[in-house]
Amino acid sequence: MPRLIAISALGLLAVLLLAHSAYSVDVNEFLAQREQFLAEESSRILGGSITLNADEQLVNNMLMTAKTLEYDQSFSNLDFAPATNFFLAKPSMLQSEVFKFIQQMPKGGVLHIHDIAVTPLEFLINDASYRPNLYVCSPPQDPVFFQFASSAPANLVDCQWTLVSDRRAQEGPQQFDAWLRSKLSLYTPTPQETYPNINSVWTAFENTLIAASGIITYAPVFTDYFYQGLQSFYDDNVQYIEIRTTLPLVYDLDGTFTDEVQVTQLYKDTFDRFKSDNPDFSGAKIIFAPLRRVDTATMTKYLELASQLKAQFPDVVAGFDLVGQEDLGPPLKDFLSQFLAGAADPNLHYFFHAGETNWHGTDVDENLIDAILLNATRIGHGFAVAKHPSVMDMARSKGVPVEVCPISNQVLSLVADLRNHPAAMLFTNGFPLVISSDDPASWEAVALSSDFYMAFMGLAGRKADLRTLKQLAINSIMFSAMSTDEKNSAMAEWYKRWNTFILNQYNNYKTKHNLI
Ligand SMILES: *[C@@H]1O[C@H](CO)[C@@H](O)[C@H](O)[C@H]1NC(C)=O
Ligand SMILES: [Zn+2]
Repeated sequence: MPRLIAISALGLLAVLLLAHSAYSVDVNEFLAQREQFLAEESSRILGGSITLNADEQLVNNMLMTAKTLEYDQSFSNLDFAPATNFFLAKPSMLQSEVFKFIQQMPKGGVLHIHDIAVTPLEFLINDASYRPNLYVCSPPQDPVFFQFASSAPANLVDCQWTLVSDRRAQEGPQQFDAWLRSKLSLYTPTPQETYPNINSVWTAFENTLIAASGIITYAPVFTDYFYQGLQSFYDDNVQYIEIRTTLPLVYDLDGTFTDEVQVTQLYKDTFDRFKSDNPDFSGAKIIFAPLRRVDTATMTKYLELASQLKAQFPDVVAGFDLVGQEDLGPPLKDFLSQFLAGAADPNLHYFFHAGETNWHGTDVDENLIDAILLNATRIGHGFAVAKHPSVMDMARSKGVPVEVCPISNQVLSLVADLRNHPAAMLFTNGFPLVISSDDPASWEAVALSSDFYMAFMGLAGRKADLRTLKQLAINSIMFSAMSTDEKNSAMAEWYKRWNTFILNQYNNYKTKHNLI
């Protein structure tokens, strides 16, 4: 044995000597090349073209000290929040210094969220569900149904309506409210067992939305709900919102329904009220996004309605999209003539969900091609975009961003470990993208900050710094559906908030280190 080692050691020496004479690159020269290589990659990352001023650089040093410490500890412990299902990772995220930094940071706008999961569940549980006249009907199998009514609605096949106030009194408020939460939230301490595949998690997800919508679409709750939704984002340092909505019919105690025009008006009134209470809020818009599983005649009606609403509420309505589990179809190409007819209205913009799938080469996956050819303003998710180089080229040249929603993709079973999220490649390539939170209430995320945190730690890599975060905020305003004037004033407001934020961070740092 020792002889063998001696021989191979000699062999190795020979190889090294040979190598040395054959390639006489000096180590320092090599290291210089290596530095240059890293610098070149660093300049290509999202935000790589931003130059930080002196104050920002100092804040960046603080941020990166916290980030690398957290990152490197995770590397040693093999325990990393973005690599863990959000339901289990949330407690450690809430403790993170980086997360706290991101919470305080002005993040611009949130461009991809859905009506029934905008507002934290606390509002539905602690406020809306305590209002009088709310009935519940819970069949043996989910979904549970809720409805406000002056008297008990007609019983359904396998459940009877009971007043929530009666059930709460019978079962005890704590127990009832915990049950209610479990019907509105996807949270589980055992995500893998509870949701073994993508269809089971989507079914559970849609059941929570059905349950919540019975409470939300009651007129007096509806406007308060969206007001509280805007408040939760505003409190998370988000200044602008675009909400995808099915424009659900909103009802009264006596069962009268509003139509889509009236519902749009309710949105407008709520947005106006919020803005007048908070003048530094830049505003909100809606994207009409009905369910995709309809026939072509219905799609035509939807598109006509979208055009009509856009004409009637030009500042409120941003455009059109479709919702529902994309894998189950139908694909966009089934409605091509409807969409092409819709595109004849130059004011109607598309914001299609596309490529929210792992099934490469299917019609669902090719929704990306239809979305970009239909001149979509942005692409929802675009989870599969990295597999379509021509879509990427065209999106980049036309300035069409993808709306990346990391936690949604994890909870809804597209990717378990966010380090493997395809948008990691979009970050390193400086591809146009925004970060959004899709349905934060359904998985009890913190408005926008949870997704920013997961993106910054899990997708953008260890070295992504303040420049990347700054670019994400700027992107969210640049790629929004705001008019040029609206963008200019939102951008000015954002810079004001950003400078205050940097100054505060800087002062905290000086206080901490006794530099004052
Ligand atoms: C998309 O935009 C291009 C360039 O403006 C235009 O030529 C094309 O007709 C548009 N396509 C659709 C489907 O509207
Ligand atoms: Zn979505």
